[in-house]
Amino acid sequence: MTDSPGNIKACVFDAYGTLFDVHSAVAKHRQRLGEQGAEVSAMWRTKQLEYTWLRSLMGDYTDFWQVTSEALEYALDSFAIADADLHRDLMQAYLNLTAYEEVPAVLQQLKAAGYITAILSNGEPGMLSSAVEGAGLDAVLDKSLSVHPLQIYKPDPRVYQLVIDEFGIEPQEVLFQSSNAWDAAGAAHFGFNVLWVNRFNQRPERLPAKPQYEAKDLNHLIEILKLD
Ligand code: LAC
Repeated sequence: MTDSPGNIKACVFDAYGTLFDVHSAVAKHRQRLGEQGAEVSAMWRTKQLEYTWLRSLMGDYTDFWQVTSEALEYALDSFAIADADLHRDLMQAYLNLTAYEEVPAVLQQLKAAGYITAILSNGEPGMLSSAVEGAGLDAVLDKSLSVHPLQIYKPDPRVYQLVIDEFGIEPQEVLFQSSNAWDAAGAAHFGFNVLWVNRFNQRPERLPAKPQYEAKDLNHLIEILKLD
């Protein structure tokens, strides 16, 4: 049995890694990367996140599209791959990432039950709308909130505040989902109820706030909200 949080009004989702599989871009071009594909993809993701944190600390924001491009440049360079066409094609693939298998049905069930559904992401607004449309999720998501107007990245508390300002609700009325353990911690620290979608079987972060819930995919949300 899972204890349910009381009075949830909105289910809010991190985008990359939670709804969309960031490794599906490299998977599309696996033949061109050979055996190094998985390592390139992992480094791309790690650098992309590092650059968001570093740029936030430096006070030198640039949008997530540029951060993603620069992180990919770094990753390809690290594996001595000098291929501008591959860089371009991987970036293009990033606009059309595959959604995880359970995502459409879970969002559909939340909408049917009357919850507000939204994305809260580092993604630049154009990237987010492309991903949402590509995965056919427009009808089951009320809003995609981007950090872009704030010019700062997660886990700055102002990012989580965007949800409060947009929907006029309290932090304890939000159930936030992220597969990124550090984002789950940031959201819990802000005061959201949090489900850490531990897709990659990671160890818990040692950070000053902990998510209340943990599961391997988003199906657990249905159980938390007692929708089945
Ligand atoms: C996002 C990153 C953290 O979508 O995955 O905000």
